[in-house]
Amino acid sequence: MTKPASAAAALATATPSPSSDSALLAQRLVDAYRAVRDETERRAAPLSPEDQLIQSMPDASPAKWHRAHTTWFFEQFLLGEHVAGYTPFHPDYAYLFNSYYVSAGPRHARHQRGHLTRPSADEVTAYRRHVDAEVVKFFQSAGEEKLQALVPLVEVGLNHEQQHQELMYTDILHAFAQNPIPPAYDPAWRFPASNGSTEQWVTLNEGIHTVGHADDSFHFDNEKPAHRALVGPVKLAKNLVTNAEWLAFMKDGGYATATLWLMDGFATVSNEGWQAPGHWRETGGEWKIMTLGGLQPIDPSAPVCHVSYYEADAFARWAGKHLPTEMEWEVAARAGLLNDAYGIVWQWTRSSYSPYPGYRAIEGALGEYNGKFMVNQLVLRGSSLATPPGHSRVTYRNFFYPHHRWQFTGLRLADYA
Ligand SMILES: [Fe+2]
Repeated sequence: MTKPASAAAALATATPSPSSDSALLAQRLVDAYRAVRDETERRAAPLSPEDQLIQSMPDASPAKWHRAHTTWFFEQFLLGEHVAGYTPFHPDYAYLFNSYYVSAGPRHARHQRGHLTRPSADEVTAYRRHVDAEVVKFFQSAGEEKLQALVPLVEVGLNHEQQHQELMYTDILHAFAQNPIPPAYDPAWRFPASNGSTEQWVTLNEGIHTVGHADDSFHFDNEKPAHRALVGPVKLAKNLVTNAEWLAFMKDGGYATATLWLMDGFATVSNEGWQAPGHWRETGGEWKIMTLGGLQPIDPSAPVCHVSYYEADAFARWAGKHLPTEMEWEVAARAGLLNDAYGIVWQWTRSSYSPYPGYRAIEGALGEYNGKFMVNQLVLRGSSLATPPGHSRVTYRNFFYPHHRWQFTGLRLADYA
């Protein structure tokens, strides 16, 4: 796997001052746009047309759909709304590739995305090329004033595509994990090295801290407003929970001990027959894990991955500890106190995904991006091995339902003793 492009971060740092001239601004937008779009295709490149079609569960989407949906996003919100007389590439694609934007019209059922044998992967490639050419032409001809006004929309489009780049990895890994063969996305892929230290805990004294995104650099609306929060006293684990620690939990009967679990969690464990983290397989008395590099032995020292909130919570209870709140995580991460805060596994917090005080969704259809999901989900902080470099930041709030574990998700502990 080659190094992913640093994508929208390039645009963020290149976001011009009002005095930049039109050609320079256009070129910066073209460069940032191409870098992100190329990264999507790089991630899709090892996948056959059959791989690109599979939808192994309703939460996962086919790679082909990700490639088309991210294209529709630019067609719908940039070309459709800001280029006079733009005609969509295909009259049916808005219906097929709109995800959840009620304001953008009706859409194909999410759980049936894997039924779409047509358009073919090649036709989706043609769709991407068409929209790319139109977007670049628009950047080069729109003029400075219009481009300046649209920089925030382009940034959302690029960051949106980066989120789907992460999903392309998690979704194809889930599909490959169902295959007895089992396939490798990239046989040379290895789990990233962790940076654990012998120092176990970092202390946060009681204090009032500003959390949330304070400046105008790129952020999603759910990171605002910045506000004051009371944090501590608490100790946070400097390191992520490892596979060795998780194996001890399993060996101690963790998955079978109802008293360790939330009621919904134990119901999920029972219904799903969970005995180990997601993508783990026991063969010949030995646990292995399906990775992007295929089936590999469990590395005891590596951070545990593919655990749900329910499992993370049960583990914390078994360990006599807790999960941190997202505020505790952010304060510790801002201070540089956490090992492996980014780039290996998203870390579950016990914070509900709720609006910050005074939160308002942005105007228009893109106001549906985050705000309408603010119920029944939990916040994860940091970033994962699948997150494109430059996409994460200390205020970033990821969110999933408590039973979800097909993302690269792990945990670190908190201690209030
Ligand atoms: Fe999307």
